[in-house]
Amino acid sequence: MRKGFYISTPVGVVAIILCAGALATIIGLSVVYSQEKAKNNDVAPTEGGISTKPPATTSVPSNDPWDNYRLPKSLVPECYNVILWPRLTPDMTTGLYIFTGESSVDFECAEETDLILIHSNKLNYTEFDNKILANLTSLTGGKAPPINSSWLQDVTQYLVIQLDGKLMKGHRYRLYTKFTGELADDLGGFYRSKYLEDGKEKIVATTQMQPTDARKAFPCFDEPAMKATFNITILHDHGTVALSNGEQKESGNYTINGNHVLKTVFEPTPKMSTYLLAFIVSDFDSISSNTVNDVLIRIFARRTAIAAGHGQYALNITGTILQFFEDYYNVSYPLPKSDQIALPDFNAGAMENWGLITYRETALLYNEDFSSNSNKERVATIIAHELAHMWFGNLVTLKWWNDLWLNEGFASYVEYLGADKAEPEWKVKDLIVLNDVHRVFAIDALASSHPLSSKEEDIQTPAQINELFDAISYSKGASVLRMLSDFLTEDVFKMGLQTYLTEFEYGNAVYTDLWKHLQMAVNASGITLPDSVRNIMNTWVLQMGFPVVTINTSTAVVSQQHFLLDPDSEVSTPSPFQYQWIVPIKWMKNAVNHSTLWLQTESANIDEMSVSGDDWVLANLDVVGYYRVNYDQGNWENLLRILSTSHSLIPRINRAQLVDDAFNLARARIIPTVLALRTTKYLYSEREYMPWQSAMNNLDFFYLMFDRSEVYGPLQDYLRKQVTPLFEHYKNLTGNWSSVPDGHMDQYNQVNAISLACKTGVKECHNLTATWFNQWMDTKENMIQPNLRSTVYCNAIAAGGADEWEFAWSQFQNATIAIEADKLRYALACTKQPWLLNRYLEYTLNPSLIRKQDATSTIVYIAQNVIGQSLAWDFVRARWSYIFTQYGGGSFSFSNLINGVTERFSSEYELHPLKQFKADNAVVGFGSGTLALDQSIERTMGNIKWIAENKQNVLDWLEAETKYTSH
Ligand SMILES: *[C@@H]1O[C@H](CO)[C@@H](O)[C@H](O)[C@H]1NC(C)=O
Ligand SMILES: *[C@@H]1O[C@H](CO)[C@@H](O)[C@H](O)[C@H]1NC(C)=O
Ligand SMILES: *[C@@H]1O[C@H](CO)[C@@H](O)[C@H](O)[C@H]1NC(C)=O
Ligand SMILES: *[C@@H]1O[C@H](CO)[C@@H](O)[C@H](O)[C@H]1NC(C)=O
Ligand SMILES: [Zn+2]
Repeated sequence: MRKGFYISTPVGVVAIILCAGALATIIGLSVVYSQEKAKNNDVAPTEGGISTKPPATTSVPSNDPWDNYRLPKSLVPECYNVILWPRLTPDMTTGLYIFTGESSVDFECAEETDLILIHSNKLNYTEFDNKILANLTSLTGGKAPPINSSWLQDVTQYLVIQLDGKLMKGHRYRLYTKFTGELADDLGGFYRSKYLEDGKEKIVATTQMQPTDARKAFPCFDEPAMKATFNITILHDHGTVALSNGEQKESGNYTINGNHVLKTVFEPTPKMSTYLLAFIVSDFDSISSNTVNDVLIRIFARRTAIAAGHGQYALNITGTILQFFEDYYNVSYPLPKSDQIALPDFNAGAMENWGLITYRETALLYNEDFSSNSNKERVATIIAHELAHMWFGNLVTLKWWNDLWLNEGFASYVEYLGADKAEPEWKVKDLIVLNDVHRVFAIDALASSHPLSSKEEDIQTPAQINELFDAISYSKGASVLRMLSDFLTEDVFKMGLQTYLTEFEYGNAVYTDLWKHLQMAVNASGITLPDSVRNIMNTWVLQMGFPVVTINTSTAVVSQQHFLLDPDSEVSTPSPFQYQWIVPIKWMKNAVNHSTLWLQTESANIDEMSVSGDDWVLANLDVVGYYRVNYDQGNWENLLRILSTSHSLIPRINRAQLVDDAFNLARARIIPTVLALRTTKYLYSEREYMPWQSAMNNLDFFYLMFDRSEVYGPLQDYLRKQVTPLFEHYKNLTGNWSSVPDGHMDQYNQVNAISLACKTGVKECHNLTATWFNQWMDTKENMIQPNLRSTVYCNAIAAGGADEWEFAWSQFQNATIAIEADKLRYALACTKQPWLLNRYLEYTLNPSLIRKQDATSTIVYIAQNVIGQSLAWDFVRARWSYIFTQYGGGSFSFSNLINGVTERFSSEYELHPLKQFKADNAVVGFGSGTLALDQSIERTMGNIKWIAENKQNVLDWLEAETKYTSH
């Protein structure tokens, strides 16, 4: 799955530019499945013949197998036959949208047992033969034991069937059930999405199974290692299309209970996990091409979107990317077709259902009149991410969710390789440093972080599984795999991957299986490493955090230390490696690359790194290593000098690194804050995107901490001075803003130039954005370049009043293109009018105004606005229990929400209510936001200390800088 909460990278500084300490934590996947809701709603016993066995002791933990979240190993599914009939109109009497279904599963008995446990959540069962709701037959001959009793175990989400006799080892059986479920708008399991087209409201029935919601569509052994084949049949209305993982086998008229419908049967799937199933009924249209080895590639979307060509870009690049991965894995695409579909309501960014990938509209559709280059990049990288899973994740699946990091980290790494293949001019591979490495550093530097790898027994409940879909799994996973691929070399990495995929195809593996295959490749290739792949990687995978490597160029001592953003924070989790790592160091001396060195102990003498005079050392080239670097004062001075005199001697990724490392080392009180600020002085002559973005990410922390204090004025003055040449540069480059810069990165940096210039009060910038926006309001024709829209809208709405806001709101409501609607939804949060912000907050809980999938991010946008911050916090606090119970079902990412509304907290007056909030809602709970709440408290305490120690220095430095040059 691809994380859903997305803030387009260069979207504008006014409210949103990533704060290294905070926004980073917001990228965790916005998936909160129905489990939170389930915990709060007692699911009533069902209508049908299921006797709700009254285990009087349910509240007391028991050792009964049905109270265990994990399935016993006694039964092994082989093959399912599932017929589902979703109704796209509400039931006349109940008003509910429902689906009905029948399912049979063939399984083998691996250990004698008289108990069948099969997952089932929120399904109602009907009865047969007056008594029994499920029938069991033997496929091996003989009679299956009769059913003694059966009931639904709501907490663990099982259908429990107790038999009057034993199932025999080695025998095969078939269990048949008939059921009804609700096709709710809860974004999980089999659910409904709604949209308006040609003035008509239309309904789509679609699915999101990962991680534990297949059981909400039909009873199944819903664990990733319980692979089976699936025969899917969908009944649906004439005029609609049914899709599933497999190819359509036949589709024809069918009559059921007097209803004339279509019956579409799909080819059996390969052996696969339940969480990768998908079935969709819609009246969507599609475009197709046949490019890679006869694999049929199709893009599905709303009819108007297809007619307008918005699927074309996705179709064009999919073939290239599929081909790339076939070569990369050296395994051909395992299925005969690859469908990708854009859904109006979808919680994550995208989901890698095998052969039928689902996306948010903004993650698949592209239109050059509306999409920015960032939107386009997102389409390319998400497609690459999901296609990468077709092998890594789908063909070979991790045995249990505790290894999720390998699945998601891998896809999050190779998405850059796939996108690079499709768009080589973009140099998109570099961006992993900003988007993943730097971003996750901010979280992984907290004492409340956690290791990549979790123990299987620690991950049991759906909520625990959901909590794993976080930035650590995605971005740290991607970062350490990139480092691994680099020190092994890409060829060796690929070789290990290829044999791994071949050994485990259609099966399951654990992460150490990959290490084993990479080691085989290392041995075959003859490259030398300081230790085994497993031992090196264990230090990165089994302990949380990462080191700061300190290079003292005067003594030649190189040492490492666990990097903590707050050095006083207490690390309560012991590490098997005492927080030491086996660190590959790529480095240069005076702009000449040297061969990689390894730091394997706490400190070592590395004579080559001793320099003197004007000579300088720079380590962690291209930030391939997952660590920060500090130097002795002399080397820092030399690096600052090179930045100001000839910055191109330092690779641009490392210019971004120097800024990011310096600011973070300063926050950890390892170097003075003033030294960090000095890394921004050279920006006056910097034109590249990555260093600027890095600086803006870090300075955003200064804005968060100081935008309500006396430091704000001098900070503005200083940055206005720094950004003015960049603003002028783009003005000239684009012929007074009339054309679009050629390069992808240049386009990003143009947005930065405008955002920061407007933010810091460059008059010309304000005039520019106001003029463009007013032109749009006057003529009703939007001439603003797509790349600049977010920033222009935001600045114009911030500078304007109710008229601008209402205009943008009506544009938002009438927008037929999700990409455009998203930009407006973001910009509406930029107003400085508290009453507009408060009203907007109210809108977020009204699904007819703001889609549920967008509620969290909208509240977070509002909180990022200095005026909106306290309003959003009050709003969330006041409504927590309502939000938690009503919106728990799939649409709210509580961790994003909590991190988002608390990121500016930096005083005792904010810490106290935050702790109070935790205490007050202990009963309601925080679901997937539990960890985020603790992190917010830790972060707030760190911020309080930081301000106390730094405010005066920062103020003095900024004043000196601006006095000295400004007149
Ligand atoms: C699934 O379909 C295949 C081919 O149509 C058939 O051979 C198989 O028996 C079916 N499986 C089940 C469980 O009905
Ligand atoms: C289960 O029982 C129903 C009703 O008697 C019957 O129609 C169906 O064929 C049976 N299914 C199996 C798998 O035995
Ligand atoms: C399932 O049964 C419960 C309890 O009778 C009922 O409230 C719910 O609406 C039923 N669901 C469907 C989809 O019929
Ligand atoms: C199938 O049903 C549709 C609509 O009821 C009808 O127009 C069509 O002729 C039917 N096709 C066949 C082959 O019976
Ligand atoms: Zn993924």
